[in-house]
Amino acid sequence: MVSSDLPRYPSVIEFGKYEIQTWYSSPYPPEYSRLQKLYLCEFCLKYMRSKNILLRHAKKCGWFHPPANEIYRKDDLSVFEVDGNVSKLFCQNLCLLAKLFLDHKTLYYDVEPFLFYILTQNDNKGCHLVGYFSKEKLCQQKYNVSCIMIMPQYQRQGFGRFLIDFSYLLTRQEGQAGSPEKPLSDLGRLSYLAYWRSVVLEYLHAQPCRRVSVRAMSRATGMCPHDVAATLQQLRMVDRQDGRIVLVRRERLIQRHVDRMRSHPRLNQVDPEALRWTPVS
Ligand code: COA
Ligand code: NA
Repeated sequence: MVSSDLPRYPSVIEFGKYEIQTWYSSPYPPEYSRLQKLYLCEFCLKYMRSKNILLRHAKKCGWFHPPANEIYRKDDLSVFEVDGNVSKLFCQNLCLLAKLFLDHKTLYYDVEPFLFYILTQNDNKGCHLVGYFSKEKLCQQKYNVSCIMIMPQYQRQGFGRFLIDFSYLLTRQEGQAGSPEKPLSDLGRLSYLAYWRSVVLEYLHAQPCRRVSVRAMSRATGMCPHDVAATLQQLRMVDRQDGRIVLVRRERLIQRHVDRMRSHPRLNQVDPEALRWTPVS
């Protein structure tokens, strides 16, 4: 996935204790985007041209977590809800950072209409940025995620799944059903397909009675009916009988999935009890 053979600006960032190869270019202002290496404050996300400037900044920055309310905490993980209208510069800097790992165009400056849900891992130094997703405050199309990104040093450890699951938890709390904004990147699609598949299989396992409707599954999971139906189709669990669509439960597939989850419990799961949040009505 790393297109390291293409020229990228910047090609490396220093971020907390990490030096990270970028995947794509990001439109930092010209005097910064020409640099091979950019230095970022891992807490306020300000970008700087040298290590010395970063060190001086760190002495007076004073931030150790995102500028917002903590709406979730369990073990060493927290989620903060940042309003693009209130913390504009932080959100703009977050979008510029995210673009380094996103191949398609995304927003950078027009952050006011969005909320940003920031996942951090916490230690005695502060709340370290793991990843985030953005969400439009008023979305006609019922998108519950606009953009999602996990920092490369935290990828493949279940944090993407954590944030996807968290986005559906908020959607259920709102009494809604949602879907991520399209297009999805290749990694985004992989992550969503794996998530939807497991949610549907686990729902079917918990509902051994034969009458299951797409509508009921949508209500229970927060997935929009279209994504539920597409996932069932992808699992080859729908059939047409006498012109009607019927669900064909593949019991062995369901059981295999549940057995695998028992023998390999997931890392970093969302605990709905740890959410302290009510939707703005
Ligand atoms: N290759 C193969 N499968 C992958 C993968 C990879 N590089 N990355 C993730 N997956 C699959 C995993 O198998 C996993 O499925 P499982 O739960 O059945 O094991 C699922 O996707 C989620 O994995 P997870 O570890 O939770 O994902 P992540 O923390 O690495 O985050 C993204 C996933 C998409 C957020 C991350 O890759 C990312 O930030 N990419 C760059 C930005 C981007 O493309 N965002 C999406 C925009 S639509
Ligand atoms: Na990508």
